[in-house]
Amino acid sequence: MRVCVIGTGYVGLVTGACLSHIGHDVICVDNNEEKVKLMKAGRSPIFEPGLSEIMQSAIEAGRIQFTTDIAAGVAHGEILFIAVGTPPLPTGESDTRYVEAVARSIGTHLNGGYKVIVNKSTVPIGSGDWVRMIVLDGIAERQKTLVTPGAGASEQKLPVSDADFDVVSNPEFLREGSAVYDTFNPDRIVLGGNSTRATDLMKKLYAPIVERQFAEDKSLPQVPVLVTDLSSAEMIKYAANAFLATKISFVNEVANICDRVGADVTQVAKGIGLDSRIGNKFLQAGIGWGGSCFPKDVSALVHTADDYGYEAQLLKSAVSVNQRQRLIALEKLQQALKILKGKTVGLLGLTFKPDTDDMRDAPALNLIEQLNRLGAKVKAYDPIVSQSGMRDGLSGVLVETDPERLADGCDALVLVTDWKQFSSLDYGKMAKLMVNPVMIDGRNFLDPETMVRAGFKYIGVGRSSR
Ligand code: NAI
Repeated sequence: MRVCVIGTGYVGLVTGACLSHIGHDVICVDNNEEKVKLMKAGRSPIFEPGLSEIMQSAIEAGRIQFTTDIAAGVAHGEILFIAVGTPPLPTGESDTRYVEAVARSIGTHLNGGYKVIVNKSTVPIGSGDWVRMIVLDGIAERQKTLVTPGAGASEQKLPVSDADFDVVSNPEFLREGSAVYDTFNPDRIVLGGNSTRATDLMKKLYAPIVERQFAEDKSLPQVPVLVTDLSSAEMIKYAANAFLATKISFVNEVANICDRVGADVTQVAKGIGLDSRIGNKFLQAGIGWGGSCFPKDVSALVHTADDYGYEAQLLKSAVSVNQRQRLIALEKLQQALKILKGKTVGLLGLTFKPDTDDMRDAPALNLIEQLNRLGAKVKAYDPIVSQSGMRDGLSGVLVETDPERLADGCDALVLVTDWKQFSSLDYGKMAKLMVNPVMIDGRNFLDPETMVRAGFKYIGVGRSSR
């Protein structure tokens, strides 16, 4: 099938590359010329395991193109994905201006033939109908220019009433760091819409994935496809993220109580996670949730509830527990080192989670801001950030090129991101290079006994029994 994906960030590029990998003919559109130049050369502008490889093979197979020309993308696609960002506004609402601009542009460039316009971006509930309206506005605007003497005489006029398209909500659940894997091995596919013609086309698009042709375990039953109305699909995305964020805030609250009563939250999480009604995922206590989705999506849902006269008390609490938790490492540093002014703190990891280069709303940024405010010197090592040269939000931070250089002269280290390689560093050597070998394990990732043997004073989150 012919597909156009507009917006080639973490979601759009992975979607475009994976759809071309399963055999579709894809055009990816982005208004960032630098990004398009890179992608045309077969290079991914983001770090995501496996992405460059499938991009390159799709380019070689001639099944993917990259352009800044949205008109070409719209003309090409029978399915048009909107995958632009919906960042948070200071009020907590979602900023939908990029979705609006793309929907309008789709309208102005819509040519003949039936199209499905797919909201892949996470958008406020009710956006499906709103996108339809904006597309129709775009078509109407184009008609105005067509009746202007001299304008686009060769273009074909498309009466608004004949515009043949449907809008589908197809929320994305991929996790950064395993986005390609998740796309080929989804837990479910959600399609919201009120046109069977549109949802049937979407089922056809995803058939190879639903049938597990590209799954790691091909013997699994088919991927469940849930067809709902537009608003329910939009709500599913928010509710899923709000649930996961709340689960983490819950275990963080339990960890804070464990710290006070001398229990170990890792054992508690294991004990409750074995209950099949609870499950063991998202029960890792630590320095709070961050990234480009949870904070903004939970805030947006709280805001939507407010708009409709409902106070989402549980979700507001999940947010406030998280705000406090994001500074738990600072609290522990102050307990261990007392005065931070003039002390040197080394951060192991900067990104909001491993296997990504995404720093948006990363807990490290809060910590850096507070350490700078208190007069501490901050150094950091991150497997991706140290190599990439990206330094946004890292003013006042000395980014080191390896973990031993990081440890050298530090009064404490804080493990901020649980990168796999941090499990096998030479901690004995690192402890010797430090002024004061304190390890604040912000992810409960390291083995306390091993760290003590290496010479560290080990402090986890909710592990005060150790
Ligand atoms: P992103 O910020 O990484 O990418 C957005 C892309 O859209 C950028 O490359 C930007 O240049 C491009 N863009 C903006 N305006 C454009 C326009 N008018 N025409 C063409 N391109 C344009 O965003 P990301 O992280 O991929 O998120 C996209 C959406 O997916 C958001 O709504 C987000 O909430 C949602 N989402 C994100 C997930 C993630 O893990 N990042 C997971 C699930 C959903």
